[in-house]
Amino acid sequence: MNAIIIDGKLLAQKIKEKLKREVEELKKHKIQPTLAVILIGEDKASQKYVSYKERTCKELGIESIVFRFPENIDGISLSETIEDLNDNPAINGILIQLPLPTHLSQNVFLEKINPIKDVDGFTPYCLGRLLTDNPLFIPCTPKGVIRMFDEYGIELEGKNVVTIGRSIIVGKPLALLLLRRNATVTVCHSKTKNLKDITKNADIVCVAVGRPKFLTADMVKDGAIVIDIGINITKEGKVVGDVDFDEVKNKVSYITPVPGGVGPMTVAMLMENTVYATKIQKSQ
Ligand code: GUN
Repeated sequence: MNAIIIDGKLLAQKIKEKLKREVEELKKHKIQPTLAVILIGEDKASQKYVSYKERTCKELGIESIVFRFPENIDGISLSETIEDLNDNPAINGILIQLPLPTHLSQNVFLEKINPIKDVDGFTPYCLGRLLTDNPLFIPCTPKGVIRMFDEYGIELEGKNVVTIGRSIIVGKPLALLLLRRNATVTVCHSKTKNLKDITKNADIVCVAVGRPKFLTADMVKDGAIVIDIGINITKEGKVVGDVDFDEVKNKVSYITPVPGGVGPMTVAMLMENTVYATKIQKSQ
């Protein structure tokens, strides 16, 4: 079978062009969308993601301000920073790059973000709104995955969709979004038994585990759709996903590549959420 390669980079480009025009329109009304990013420590992957987010903001005319802190920052200083950003009307979006150093509780600090500026959608308020079928901000990666299905005309209603991974960044919100589209969702994770028996029956498999070649060709049925949400750096410095792409692509109907699949969509959705945050704050 000749799989269709889902081009996340191209779709992200289209979305960014539309957003750029929206930002220009806001600027005509003296409104400058602004994103604050909090980056703690020296984690190489986090630094890379943040510089990509900064670059994309610039491309679109969104102002980004990165607050960099050393690994050993204390909780009080971090809380004060978040509170200042909450109170600053010039800041429309607040993002804390994860993971946090182990001495800082992710739940404690995410909870401090004013939900109206929560462009990552990770506060209990925004996740609760999603759970209660009344979303405010939807987490960027799962939002981007759903947008890809829509762009390629992939119907979700009644489909057996298996997700692997249960983080609040991807797995849990993705399962909720799929349910909202009337898919039959099975959430698998590191403790799932007989994973292959489950993935083999899936119409769609979404993998977010962070292990190269985790999903192999024998784990998917002929004609399935595979969404690779992993980003891993090999010993050789190559970026690869969680799927054994070269083998799996010969068996499925649609597949996302890494790089050029879900990754660019995540950043495009962050930009979309930031523009949306700006609009709802200005209309209040
Ligand atoms: N770390 C890995 N992915 C993400 C993300 O989407 N947002 C934030 N804030 N941190 C992350």
